[in-house]
Amino acid sequence: MSSQPEKTRTFSLSGQPETEFETVMLPRHEEISKAKSTYRQSYYSDSSAPLSMHCGWSSDEAQILAYEAFLSLFDRGGDVLDLGCGNGALLRFLLSRLSVKISPYGVDFLEESIQEAKTVVLSDFSDNFFASSIDDFNPGVQKFSCIITSPDYTFDPDFRKHVKKCFSWLEPRGKLMLYDYKGSEYFKDFVKSWCDLDLGFMEIIETNLTAIVCYVKD
Ligand SMILES: C[S@@+](CC[C@H](N)C(=O)[O-])C[C@H]1O[C@@H](n2cnc3c(N)ncnc32)[C@H](O)[C@@H]1O
Repeated sequence: MSSQPEKTRTFSLSGQPETEFETVMLPRHEEISKAKSTYRQSYYSDSSAPLSMHCGWSSDEAQILAYEAFLSLFDRGGDVLDLGCGNGALLRFLLSRLSVKISPYGVDFLEESIQEAKTVVLSDFSDNFFASSIDDFNPGVQKFSCIITSPDYTFDPDFRKHVKKCFSWLEPRGKLMLYDYKGSEYFKDFVKSWCDLDLGFMEIIETNLTAIVCYVKD
């Protein structure tokens, strides 16, 4: 079983988790279970919190502003997969704001987030949401026109391999959007490491709240 430095999370002013790397090594299933309980504690401990809090946002306004960064990257419709979708709020936003037609799909390891996506946020697409760790998810033969995810969510120690796996689930000319919501220093290192992946054509979007590195599959 693979192991990597344990990820622990603190929370920035924007409400987004920050990652700190510690030297403790844990088996992968323990890392995942620990990460799940940290997300759960942060997103679902306040039963009166608004839905935006269930994706880590401290306000609806910040959430919408951060999501707007994605819009210009969509030049065609199709099936869009959010790996680490929370309750599906980003997908719902894209569905409502894009002029191209998309079908939303989402994966998240928090069962309550997937339940919320299926029953509240995107109930017309309930069959498209899966409670699973990203690293265990396999869409089979289905291909997507776009996959959205953050490097911070994988527990695969080989990030390049993880990215290539995501690429294999894309249609030709499909897009892989790696994002990070700002509010922390560590995203700068991530952006640099994404740029170093050398995976072909790349577009970078950076706003006050969001950084996205977008690759297009050949
Ligand atoms: C910051 S939220 C983002 C939600 C949504 N994509 C958005 O942009 O608003 C991160 C989500 O990723 C999920 N997540 C993190 N690591 C994961 C993993 N390894 N497998 C599945 N879900 C994961 C968390 O449960 C959380 O709901």
